[in-house]
Amino acid sequence: MSILPPTEEKAAYVERMFSRIASGYDRVNRVMTFGLDQGWRRQVVQQVAPPVGGRSLDVGTGTGDFLPQLAAWSGDGLTVGIDFTLPMMAAGQHKLDSLGAHRAAFVGGDALRLPFPDGSFDAITTGFVMRNVTDIAQAFREMYRVARPGGVVACLEVSRPRNSLVRMGHRLYFEGVVPWIGQLLGGDRRAYTYLPQSARAFPSPERLAEIMSQAGWRHVTHRLYGLGAVAIHVGAKV
Ligand SMILES: C[S@@+](CC[C@H](N)C(=O)[O-])C[C@H]1O[C@@H](n2cnc3c(N)ncnc32)[C@H](O)[C@@H]1O
Repeated sequence: MSILPPTEEKAAYVERMFSRIASGYDRVNRVMTFGLDQGWRRQVVQQVAPPVGGRSLDVGTGTGDFLPQLAAWSGDGLTVGIDFTLPMMAAGQHKLDSLGAHRAAFVGGDALRLPFPDGSFDAITTGFVMRNVTDIAQAFREMYRVARPGGVVACLEVSRPRNSLVRMGHRLYFEGVVPWIGQLLGGDRRAYTYLPQSARAFPSPERLAEIMSQAGWRHVTHRLYGLGAVAIHVGAKV
């Protein structure tokens, strides 16, 4: 049975859901991905390679897992994480403590209406967010607008393995086991039932590349990781 909300209710549904699971979010992620999620984020940050002294933005930052890595590349530059679920950022605030407010900050705001001027950022990342927005094309248009010419975006999202055997095992795990991990470690089976269902409804990697290109991004490429369970898309603003 589908628990996906209708489009007009999706943003409020997503905000409520992440508010509920914020305190256990990182723990469930590590267990459910067998600890692979941080390595995927490292790949994303390497793809955008934030320049020393530059500005980086992480869209739908959640608990801010990308921010220490982005800040490490940027040196004295500025790293900003934006999200509309404040409890997620509150749960990750400790990750910014050692960086200092002049180097990294959380901002409350909507990925579909980024509160930044055109051309503000050298590097933009987004991880496990595009499944959750109501308008993927608009999110990529906004990221394009706030990127400076020469800027790079990288998007990490779930995908479905190509190999039919792997795909079957992945489906059993994702739809049968993950909701129970969410229940046991995050206290919320519903949120971790939404996760595989939203993944099923998400465009294929090829289609996502088209959406990014139509939003203005150039030289869009993608690569699969984790036996095809996730995809990283990269694009440039020329
Ligand atoms: C699955 S979490 C991913 C968090 C983080 N990027 C990571 O890699 O773990 C999705 C996040 O996207 C945020 N989000 C979804 N739609 C959003 C929107 N329109 N504007 C801002 N944040 C949004 C949610 O609040 C949530 O924190």
